[in-house]
Amino acid sequence: MDLHIALDPRRKVGSLEDALRDAARDGVLAAGIRLPASRTLAADLGIARNSVAEVYARLVGEGWFEARVGAGTWVRARPTTTPAITPAAAVDRSTRFDLDLRGGIPDGSMFPRSAWADAVRRALSDAPADALGYGAPEGVAALRERLAEYLARTRGVIATPAGVVVTHGFGGLLGLVARALAAGGARRIAVEAYGHASHRMLLTAAGIETVALPIDERGVRVDRLAALDVAAVLLTPAHQFPTGVPLARDRRSTLAEWATRTGGIVIEDDYDGEFRFDGRSIGAFQPLAPQHTVYGGTASKALSPALGLGWGVVPEALHEGVLAARAQTGTATDALSQLALAAFIHAGAYDRSVRSLRLRYRARRERFEAFVDRHLPGARVVGLAAGIQCLLELPPGVTEAEAVAEASARGLRIGGLAEYAADASTAASRRPALVVGIGAPPEHRFEQAMAALAAAVDAARR
Ligand SMILES: Cc1ncc(COP(=O)(O)O)c(C=O)c1O
Repeated sequence: MDLHIALDPRRKVGSLEDALRDAARDGVLAAGIRLPASRTLAADLGIARNSVAEVYARLVGEGWFEARVGAGTWVRARPTTTPAITPAAAVDRSTRFDLDLRGGIPDGSMFPRSAWADAVRRALSDAPADALGYGAPEGVAALRERLAEYLARTRGVIATPAGVVVTHGFGGLLGLVARALAAGGARRIAVEAYGHASHRMLLTAAGIETVALPIDERGVRVDRLAALDVAAVLLTPAHQFPTGVPLARDRRSTLAEWATRTGGIVIEDDYDGEFRFDGRSIGAFQPLAPQHTVYGGTASKALSPALGLGWGVVPEALHEGVLAARAQTGTATDALSQLALAAFIHAGAYDRSVRSLRLRYRARRERFEAFVDRHLPGARVVGLAAGIQCLLELPPGVTEAEAVAEASARGLRIGGLAEYAADASTAASRRPALVVGIGAPPEHRFEQAMAALAAAVDAARR
């Protein structure tokens, strides 16, 4: 173990003793850590070995350290100074959010651990030494090739490896694109009336004002773009997040016309385009206006948000700006994970994972719809033809706030639609609904989560 200790040159041994005692007391040296051998520490610090051994012995005597015969000196577990948890608080803590039905979260228990471990092993053993240095800012070439091929094949995206940029999730891409647009003079960007507050925040943080576009049963009102003075629009055409409506075909054409006519940029968030359940394959928007679209995708749904991997297919006009933003923000994506994802896609494991998840999420979707039919009269499921989230429109008289509060009281984490609204006036005009993520709970908790949801809505009814 390497230890950082600042010694007072006038009293080296005394200051070593003080520093070690303080570190043990403050938890800088965690209980259970083995200390360096006295010979090693003495050589590192330039003091006599005996002096270090004496310091260790004194701290053992005081109870900070523990000497184990033949196994060195260890930091001893100390009585904790944090207040004891009363049984009631303990129960509260562990049951508070035992169940999760939040939107946009995949089931971590479905992560293909062994296939991913194989890909990591293969990537590591095949990587030449120079792949482990500082990589290209746009990402590892092997992964960009795999992604260009995968996106063309599965989503109809027009992509060459040169146009692909690997990022830290979709959020990472959006942050870079926002900065690139702002550097090019963009001041306002249209967003959907409902979406992730964190995405709007990324735009605002780049100095861009957001303007909300309404959503109806045929998707986002892109016809309104013409009347707005915006440089770009951020949207989820395949499966609006979180309302679930796809963008109607004629609106896609309207959007493409707007972009081509005005030079506006479409930022397409294709976060769950692979998960369509009703046999209607809705391809990406990007091929309708490839010069004007930043296509964005993520491994957060088909694999896991824990990987922090996403990608963009960036039009030539923005490519340099996006890489400049990356340099300014110091946000490179780690090369080993990129190599592993390349190997994973190459082995066909990404396709297999998507197919298997699609079947499992489809089964959940059917269970959820049947459950609502039976146990939640007056409620309605909307937008579950694709993806892993939908809206549960609440029975008349039930408010989102009441349903969410009753759910929390039952240990169920869930959000109301209003939490996703770009502004308060949009939220006021819609029927109250919860955003239900059917992917969030592991399989063995799904039934229990649905039951808690039904109980919460029932309690809010009274
Ligand atoms: C609408 C939407 N876009 C994008 C993402 C993926 O974001 P990231 O790749 O940053 O994890 C999610 C995930 O929850 C999402 O719900």
